[in-house]
Amino acid sequence: MKPFIVAIDGPAASGKGTLAHRLAQHFGLAHLDTGKLYRVAADLVLTRNGDPADPATAELAAQEAAAALIADPTLVFAPRLLSEEVTRASSVLAAIPAVRAALLGFQRSFAMDPPARAPGVAATGAVLDGRDIGSAVCPDAAVKLFVTASPETRAMRRVKELRGRGAAAIYEDVLQDLMERDARDSDRQAAPLLAAADAELIDTTALDADTVLARAVGIVARALKEWEWLQNCKR
Ligand code: CDP
Repeated sequence: MKPFIVAIDGPAASGKGTLAHRLAQHFGLAHLDTGKLYRVAADLVLTRNGDPADPATAELAAQEAAAALIADPTLVFAPRLLSEEVTRASSVLAAIPAVRAALLGFQRSFAMDPPARAPGVAATGAVLDGRDIGSAVCPDAAVKLFVTASPETRAMRRVKELRGRGAAAIYEDVLQDLMERDARDSDRQAAPLLAAADAELIDTTALDADTVLARAVGIVARALKEWEWLQNCKR
């Protein structure tokens, strides 16, 4: 049985992570925040005082990150992955094609064989969020959403999130950082940040998280019904 896949892409702090998490909860699907894979690789490079822009160093770290994540998927929860240094380094290393290739298998395996959410409760599918899920990682996803918001709104949200975690955050610095990362993610040759042609666009600038969730739940519920109907036809 082919799993039901929801692909969510969008720029930094657009609300895609929150939406992905809540959609997965709502529909009982597994969830993979693919940004964390790039962050684990970046963290490995920084721990060794390496340069995330060096292709050989970054590729090796990505290969090691993929292997380490298979052995221990809880690595993605390490709080230091959210630091400014790791964030910046992850977007630098993510522009290197060999890094993306090294992390592709992990993402596709997760999508093809989503981990059970609880013992005995297998997930029928998965939600993956990132930059290139609908365009490159899961081009056949049943649902593709592209979540965006104005840079100012995103910077404000990130400041709130950082301060909520007890980190010092200056709005102007966060905004500049976001814009630099957006430019790097959008201008790179390898799988740039892109709305797939068949993605539904959700601009969250003027919407709160509950409204965004309600809109997305409607879209996913329709697609899920169709997917279930197709599965029954195949039986
Ligand atoms: O949470 P936020 O949106 O700030 O970042 P993230 O999703 O954790 O991703 C960190 C960095 O990883 C991004 O700036 C991208 O450069 C890279 N990334 C990517 O290239 N492709 C993905 N599918 C996910 C993240």
